[in-house]
Amino acid sequence: MSFLNKHTVLILGASGFIGNALYKELCPYFNTFGTYNTSNKEFEYNQHFFQYNVEEDDIYTILEVVKPSIIISALRGDFSAQVIAHQHISEYIKTHQCKLIFLSSSNVFDAYSKYPSYELDKTLSESIYGHFKIKIENMLLRLPKMKVAILRIPMVFGNQCPRVKEIKQLLFNKEPIEIFPNIIMNVTTDYKITQQIHYIINRNKYGVFHLGSIDLVHHDEFIKDIVGLVSNNNAIYKQVFTTNQDRYLAVLPKYNKLPKHLQITSTKVLEELKK
Ligand SMILES: NC(=O)c1ccc[n+]([C@@H]2O[C@H](COP(=O)([O-])OP(=O)(O)OC[C@H]3O[C@@H](n4cnc5c(N)ncnc54)[C@H](OP(=O)(O)O)[C@@H]3O)[C@@H](O)[C@H]2O)c1
Repeated sequence: MSFLNKHTVLILGASGFIGNALYKELCPYFNTFGTYNTSNKEFEYNQHFFQYNVEEDDIYTILEVVKPSIIISALRGDFSAQVIAHQHISEYIKTHQCKLIFLSSSNVFDAYSKYPSYELDKTLSESIYGHFKIKIENMLLRLPKMKVAILRIPMVFGNQCPRVKEIKQLLFNKEPIEIFPNIIMNVTTDYKITQQIHYIINRNKYGVFHLGSIDLVHHDEFIKDIVGLVSNNNAIYKQVFTTNQDRYLAVLPKYNKLPKHLQITSTKVLEELKK
C-alpha cells in the first residue's frame, strides 16, 4: 500500500476554523474527506465534502460511504445531538479498523482553578460546554485504547480565527474588547494543531494529549499583545472579573509529550499572527 493510500480520513466539521486547516494539511497525504453544515458552493462542488447536520442526519450513512480509517471530530452544534453522533461513531469504531481523534477542550477542567491540569487529572467542569466534552470523552475512554486520541485544546488563535477577526472588528468599530485579568491560560494556533495531528496519525499515537503552549499567559496581557500586533489604534477594554483570585484554565502535557518541534510557546503564537 502506498503512503498516500495509507489512511482514509474523515474530518467532521471540515468547513470550520480548525477542521478546514486540518483538511488543507492532510489532503496532500491522505485520502481526505470532510463534512460541512452551512450550504456553500465551494464544498458542494467538491466530491470529498458531504453536507451533514448533526441534528438531522445520521453520521452512520456517511461512515458507510467513506469507510474512514481515521475520523477527526472537529464539530460544533447541538450538544445532545453531538453526543448521539459520537455514540454512533463509537459503534463504528468498535466494528471497523478505525481510530477517532476527538477535539476536546481545556474546559473539561474548568471547575478547578488553582492549578494547570495534566493528562491524568480527573476532569471536572462547571460549564455546560465542559460537561458535554467530558461526557463524550468518558464514552470514548471505554473504547479500545489504541483506537482513540483525545486532544484537549486551549484557546486557539490564528489569522483566520474568529477570535482575531472579532478583535479587529471591535477595534474598527471602536467598541470594547473583553479581557479577563484573572484568567491564566495557555494558547495555541490552528497551524500547530494541524502539525500535531498529522504527527499523531503518522506515528499511530493514542491516548490523551494536552496541546497547549508550554508556557502560561494572563488573558488580558495576551489579548493586549494581539491588539498591539493587529492595530495602531487605541483599544477600549472591558475588564471582566469572574472570581477574586487568579484562575487557571490551562492544559499542560506531562505524560504524553510530543517532540520538541511540535511544542509551542505563547511568543510563537504571537509570531504566527504577525505573518
Ligand atoms: N477554536 C477554539 O479555540 C477551540 C478550543 C478548544 C476546542 N475546540 C474544539 O474544536 C472543534 C472545532 O472548533 P472550531 O473553532 O474550528 O469551530 P468552528 O469554526 O465553529 O467550526 C465548527 C464546524 O462544525 C460545523 N457545524 C456547526 N454546526 C453544525 C451542525 N449543527 N451540524 C453539523 N456540523 C456543524 C461547522 O459547519 P459550517 O461552518 O459549515 O456550518 C464547522 O465545520 C470544536 O469541537 C471545539 O469544541 C476549539
